[in-house]
Amino acid sequence: MQDESLLLHSHIATMHQNFENIITNRLAEKQKLGLLRSLSKPAGIDFTSNDYLGLVNHFEIAKAATDAYFKYGAGSKGSRLLGGNSEFFEEVEKWFADWKGSEAALIFNCGYSANLGVISAFCDSKTHLFCDRLNHASILDGYAMSSGKLHRFKHNCPADLEKALQAVNADGLKLIAVEAVYSMDGDIAPLKEYADLAEKYGAMLYVDEAHSDGILGPDGKGLIAQLGLEKKVHLSLSTFGKAYGTMGACVFGSKFLIDYLLNYARSFVYSTAIAPGAVAAMQKAVQVAARENFRRESVLKMSANFRQKILKAGFNCLQSETHIVPIVLKSVEKTQKCRDFLIEKGFYTACIRPPTVPSGTARLRININAAHREKDIDSLAEALIYYIHSS
Ligand SMILES: Cc1ncc(COP(=O)(O)O)c(C=O)c1O
Repeated sequence: MQDESLLLHSHIATMHQNFENIITNRLAEKQKLGLLRSLSKPAGIDFTSNDYLGLVNHFEIAKAATDAYFKYGAGSKGSRLLGGNSEFFEEVEKWFADWKGSEAALIFNCGYSANLGVISAFCDSKTHLFCDRLNHASILDGYAMSSGKLHRFKHNCPADLEKALQAVNADGLKLIAVEAVYSMDGDIAPLKEYADLAEKYGAMLYVDEAHSDGILGPDGKGLIAQLGLEKKVHLSLSTFGKAYGTMGACVFGSKFLIDYLLNYARSFVYSTAIAPGAVAAMQKAVQVAARENFRRESVLKMSANFRQKILKAGFNCLQSETHIVPIVLKSVEKTQKCRDFLIEKGFYTACIRPPTVPSGTARLRININAAHREKDIDSLAEALIYYIHSS
């Protein structure tokens, strides 16, 4: 009996050892490729923050959230479909829809869960999903949850999208998913061309405005509003953890598409709704940002000045036209070294490596925000230029 128990223990110990070995090997593999991630805290002047409008410490937003926490409680008590709904959610959704010029809106807990929900909801086995090659992981993860067919087209290339649309003679749904501003490149999508193609091929167009909301368009309403495409884009996504400095997300579209999501978006159906306090912060942040337009004007002006200096010095900033300025240094090692040098000089920047970006395009990503001072941005440009000339 004792022998049997010893045997069992040693068997369990071996299994345990195996499990540890497997995980250790996976991490070692990432380390070998120089791709091991770890958590670090911003040190020095932060050029990684997505708080593009510098709203994260805004008194009015914090107060709106606090008031709502006291009024409605700490949580929402369940999925919106099972006890988690309230008049407050519906009022804010109506307000958001009016603000964006769309018929209806649906709040999600964050942009990641909204993309999972939207993409997987529409992609059944007869659906063809057309994705820009640089679309965010959350869109691809939504696809991974689905049984649809994926077609990836060249980044920001309507001609390649059209080729893909032509090659498919489907009677199922065609869904085009793009971002308005690309998070790792800072460039702007040719939305008008995409809208025309969607119309021509009877496809549905979904636009993720995670990095354009608050920054582009009248009062920061985004790229769709800037181009007057509200009637041509069928669904869009706003996230509030970036320019608006809070958290949460909202999907906009016609009532029947929003009703569809309410039924089919699993991340909406099977998750506790976001806390009302966070929803109040989302709404207040949009109101503050629209009133304080100087924030986005300043971000865009400072970004243009920075880019001009950097381009003049010979850096490759891809096609950036926004507050997100990539500096492509190609090799992971060189990018990491440059990032370390900048940290020493008091500038905290993001080192973006594959697989987040295509291999051979490792880069520093500089996010300019409204809380930066011109002189800090100038000093960063000087430090970069010094590093490149001396390395
Ligand atoms: C384009 C894009 N969509 C969606 C998301 C996810 O949004 P959230 O951070 O609200 O989950 C991100 C986040 O980085 C993003 O860059």
